[in-house]
Amino acid sequence: MKVNDEIRIKPVDNERPVGFADRLGAYYTATVSQTFKKDNGQFFTPQEIAQFMGSLASTDKKEINILDPGCGTAILTCALVENIVNRNPTIETVHLTAYETDCHLISLSEKALSYLKEWLSHKGVTLQYVVCVHDFILENYDCLNSSGLNFSDRKQTFDFIISNPPYFKLSKDDSRVKAAKMIINGQPNIYALFLAIATRMLKNDAEMIFIVPRSFTSGRYFNRFRDYFFRYAQLNFIHLFDSRKDTFSRDNVLQETLILKAKKKTNPEDESEITVSTCIGLHDIAKSKRKSYFQKDLIDLKSKEKMIHLPINTNEESVIDLFKSWNGSLNRYGIQISTGPVVAFRAKDYIREIENGAVFLAPLYWLHNVTKMEVHYPLHKPDKGQYIQICDHTKSCLIPNRNYIFLRRFSSKDDKSRLIAAPYFSSPDSPYCIGVENKLNYIYRPKGHLERAEVMGIAALLNSNIFDTYFRTFNGNVNVSATELRAMPMPPLETIKEIGKALILRNNFSLANVREVTDSFFELNEITI
Ligand SMILES: C[S@@+](CC[C@H](N)C(=O)[O-])C[C@H]1O[C@@H](n2cnc3c(N)ncnc32)[C@H](O)[C@@H]1O
Repeated sequence: MKVNDEIRIKPVDNERPVGFADRLGAYYTATVSQTFKKDNGQFFTPQEIAQFMGSLASTDKKEINILDPGCGTAILTCALVENIVNRNPTIETVHLTAYETDCHLISLSEKALSYLKEWLSHKGVTLQYVVCVHDFILENYDCLNSSGLNFSDRKQTFDFIISNPPYFKLSKDDSRVKAAKMIINGQPNIYALFLAIATRMLKNDAEMIFIVPRSFTSGRYFNRFRDYFFRYAQLNFIHLFDSRKDTFSRDNVLQETLILKAKKKTNPEDESEITVSTCIGLHDIAKSKRKSYFQKDLIDLKSKEKMIHLPINTNEESVIDLFKSWNGSLNRYGIQISTGPVVAFRAKDYIREIENGAVFLAPLYWLHNVTKMEVHYPLHKPDKGQYIQICDHTKSCLIPNRNYIFLRRFSSKDDKSRLIAAPYFSSPDSPYCIGVENKLNYIYRPKGHLERAEVMGIAALLNSNIFDTYFRTFNGNVNVSATELRAMPMPPLETIKEIGKALILRNNFSLANVREVTDSFFELNEITI
């Protein structure tokens, strides 16, 4: 893993700093293992993306301060500075503070920066830089606790913060988690800490430009983070990639990422617009399509969740509008969604592969038993016993045998749809209780029961095109969280029942039919799903 300082990589004639930084990154990345990269969140930004991110910055200042936390070979700084120098002939001095924890990489960061310095000097611009070989979070977390919008206690604030921070989950004992606990629910991802700290290190009118996973846009694990972020930052640009395949293809990373640009919030009432830009992948990023939205159309800053909806075409916009027109929700209809209480490894002594007359058994439903609109039971698979013993040890994790909708909690990255739900009807000759494994959610009415038409209607809606589309606009990961679904707008209960009845009447529960029926109930401005 050691990098020889005498490596032969040198800038070629007229090479741009961004190209040189990219070559240094490619060189280094080939010397470290995939595990090392994962553990350190070390996936370098491709040149096309770095250039795109750099092009988002503009300034007419003569002197600027830049921060590049997690700088790698400083490709982002190079792209940003090149862009500014090309567009702003009055620029004279650039100050850079960069952070990088990988001490083996620093000699390459230095190489890239000293070339940038030389390149700038030919243009009459001075670069002063310092590369701190320290943990960016541990060095700067103190600014998180400072209250007030006009935070200026720090010695240094910046005009631009540009970063592709590391992405990985931090364990709860990590000192960085303890340091940043005010923005954390559950298990945090290190990139959110970078983002939060950056919001506090911006000068007035300064900009942060980050490439990060989409996961922070929704979900309860990022609730506190979103709350914090929107208190101090004003989002004004988001770029989405239609295909996540080629963003970090050099490193074989399949990660759904987005690029964001935000300003320091100076006026909490600021209602400025947000531009959403989209491209398919790296090949068309320079020609990305852009559209502006009112902030309120993408984020409800008064809501508790502050989820960010990100439409990438007019169809998704119409779907968001349709959902906004609904006032209902599962909560409002007295319907609850819970996670299956059977945790397989804890209940393993009571889970059975086959029926056995000697003990009382209840059916046990797993993720694989549920496909769109269908419960397949029994469906034998190794280590996925289809029965659970009814006894004192299990009674707290069994549920009454009533009508439910089962919903997978996880979809795989390759699943065409994130929402996979099936109606479940109890029958008089089935046992009085059932088991639902932890990777399934179940939907039920705690005080009362779900009617047949309700079960069918909800299952159909969850499997419909419009719900899938809506879900995709705010959910960047493959988890289907109960909290998100509880709060998700729902059509009137009467409409849900009508949909259910229409399907029961047709007696055809194929996906094509479910989609035809649900689509026929709603008018979208443009249906091209
Ligand atoms: C996703 S890579 C991006 C590198 C570079 N900015 C780029 O865009 O190519 C993140 C970098 O942050 C570094 N890093 C990881 N944890 C860090 C921390 N706590 N403080 C500073 N740098 C860190 C990694 O070694 C890695 O080089």
